Amino acid sequence: MSKTIYGFTPDSFDDRYREPEYHYGTAPNAFLVSQKHRLRPGMKALLPGDGEGRNGVWLAEQGLDVTTFDPSPFGVEKAQKLAADRSVTISAHQAGVESWDWRDAQFDLVGLFFIHLPVALRQTAHANALRALKPRGIVILETFSPHQIEMRKHGAAGGPKEIDRLFTCDLLRADFAGATFPALEETEADFDGHAHHGRCGVVRMVAMKPA
Ligand SMILES: C[S@@+](CC[C@H](N)C(=O)[O-])C[C@H]1O[C@@H](n2cnc3c(N)ncnc32)[C@H](O)[C@@H]1O
Repeated sequence: MSKTIYGFTPDSFDDRYREPEYHYGTAPNAFLVSQKHRLRPGMKALLPGDGEGRNGVWLAEQGLDVTTFDPSPFGVEKAQKLAADRSVTISAHQAGVESWDWRDAQFDLVGLFFIHLPVALRQTAHANALRALKPRGIVILETFSPHQIEMRKHGAAGGPKEIDRLFTCDLLRADFAGATFPALEETEADFDGHAHHGRCGVVRMVAMKPA
């Protein structure tokens, strides 16, 4: 019996990623793109749970040195294919936040996009993400907020049903305690993807590790 992750079984991401179409599209996350002014070529970026690679590949196109990981081998394969199609290089690995070899002060940027893990796993992953940053390194994150439960009643799609997998600003302030927050808000955003669409309830964060 598979353990339930993100309201689905882990195999369900394989089922999505096995298809040739990119389930979450090939365009980068719009909030990530809006933070382009914080990026510099040569910065080292880590993308946990990067799925089919849309965000890691876009960061590589901006000249960053990109490492990604995802538990789904089909996701990793498609991320590598997307990078090759776009003539960039990423270092893509099959791993989960549980098995990733987190090391101190390695990265300038950690990008977390729609990774809705169980509470204890999420807290550990966020602590590890902060630990993996160099001084003044940043986490850029977008996930669904509890408001998404209401928005789904009005046609929005995406996100887990379990309230304890949805993020608030307070939750993120606690998980990333010690960081400063150049950006942190619960807001609504429009998505037009196959998996995420409609006006959705999200939380968006940029957290900076102290110098
Ligand atoms: C909603 S998808 C988002 C994918 C990608 N971040 C994006 O925005 O396109 C959630 C991703 O989390 C990954 N995931 C699930 N459990 C995970 C874990 N324990 N560690 C790391 N990633 C995980 C899934 O394989 C999936 O690719």
